[in-house]
Amino acid sequence: MSVSVRSLVRCVKFRWVSERIYSGYMRAADQVRLYRPGNAAARGSGAWHTVDLRSDTVTEPGEAMRSAMAQATVGDDVFGEDPTINELQTVAADMFGMEAALFVPTGTMSNLIAVMVHCRERGDEMIVGDLSHLHIYEQGGSAQLAGVHSTTLTTLADGTFDLEQLESKIRHDYPDAHYPRSRLVCVENTHTIMGGRVLPVSFLQQLHSIADKYGLAVHMDGARLMNAAVALGVHPSAILKHCHTVSVCLSKGLGAPAGTILAGSKEFIQRAVRARKALGGGMRQSGILAAAGKIALLDMMARLEEDHRNARTFARALTECDPPLYHVDLASVETNIVCFCLRVPGLSPSRFCELMEEVSEEEIEALDQGVRVLMFPHFRGTVRAVWHLGISEEDTQLAIKKAQFVAQRFRLKSARDR
Ligand SMILES: Cc1ncc(COP(=O)(O)O)c(C=O)c1O
Repeated sequence: MSVSVRSLVRCVKFRWVSERIYSGYMRAADQVRLYRPGNAAARGSGAWHTVDLRSDTVTEPGEAMRSAMAQATVGDDVFGEDPTINELQTVAADMFGMEAALFVPTGTMSNLIAVMVHCRERGDEMIVGDLSHLHIYEQGGSAQLAGVHSTTLTTLADGTFDLEQLESKIRHDYPDAHYPRSRLVCVENTHTIMGGRVLPVSFLQQLHSIADKYGLAVHMDGARLMNAAVALGVHPSAILKHCHTVSVCLSKGLGAPAGTILAGSKEFIQRAVRARKALGGGMRQSGILAAAGKIALLDMMARLEEDHRNARTFARALTECDPPLYHVDLASVETNIVCFCLRVPGLSPSRFCELMEEVSEEEIEALDQGVRVLMFPHFRGTVRAVWHLGISEEDTQLAIKKAQFVAQRFRLKSARDR
């Protein structure tokens, strides 16, 4: 063999060997990547089927929404000239039984605008549930940005609060110079931290009459109002007739990519337009988003029942799981959220969520498949799972199998450790 042929063979051999090593290395690297929970690259890799139950905010717009967005007629909405935004606002006001509505980028901004408009004078106060989204998860924007003081009520397990406690918290001694002025009471429907609980209409009715008696406005954070309406089998306006204003998210179970509707009286919405601009929420050709929002409002409500059904199926399966690792109050599963506890002290909610996300050799052997189920540790030592349009009945069954597998694996491990 001449030198050049020998070196060519050596070169080919080297490439062959190095490619084998490299591809073996890559396979190993993939395994490491895929097996480690919380890995963003693995999350997007698509190697295992993923059932994402972290939140109903993870939905992506489907074909109909995308094509409506692409074809939307638009204009400058700060000039009030976006026809698609105007149409969405009219549809929403009508659906909610309110005089007017406003498209707002997010639920957080929408709630903040409501607080700013209802509590306009320095020293105004709002009354709010201590476990409400507005109080816990919105960075105290009402104090930080609007200068509004809050007083809290104890949130009850069904998402309501005690109306006698409410009456006791109203500042009856105003205008005595020591006190702020009670102006607003906020409710959340469905109640997120409490696991998607639906506020009873009778509660809203009583709240409304107390608010009228003391001259308070009632604002509903109805991020998931449509879930409440579907669960009760009523038109949204039947719930909202007991509130002065409402904020409804289009980007949760209804599946739009962004946007919230704030609705109320004409005068309230005129002021809300000003507050939205001050907060930087005046958008221009936002009809592109409103086109998706219209589909969300008009076409997506009916499918929420499917989410509620799947959530109930999952919750029931947890109660029937052998070994009995899970505790769920089935009566509390009213909509698309399931909150459950782990019965064993040795397993924390965050470790449990890791186990649900990990795919192990054992799982593939036992179930003949690997499924990553994503959930979040939640309030007071619970775990939360949320259903939405990205989760089918089959996905729900896969999540159930995984929960059963984790329970069995945990029992085995505990037995081995003993
Ligand atoms: C009850 C409730 N209100 C308000 C919000 C805030 O919505 P956004 O994320 O659009 O700001 C959320 C978000 O999850 C929510 O669950």
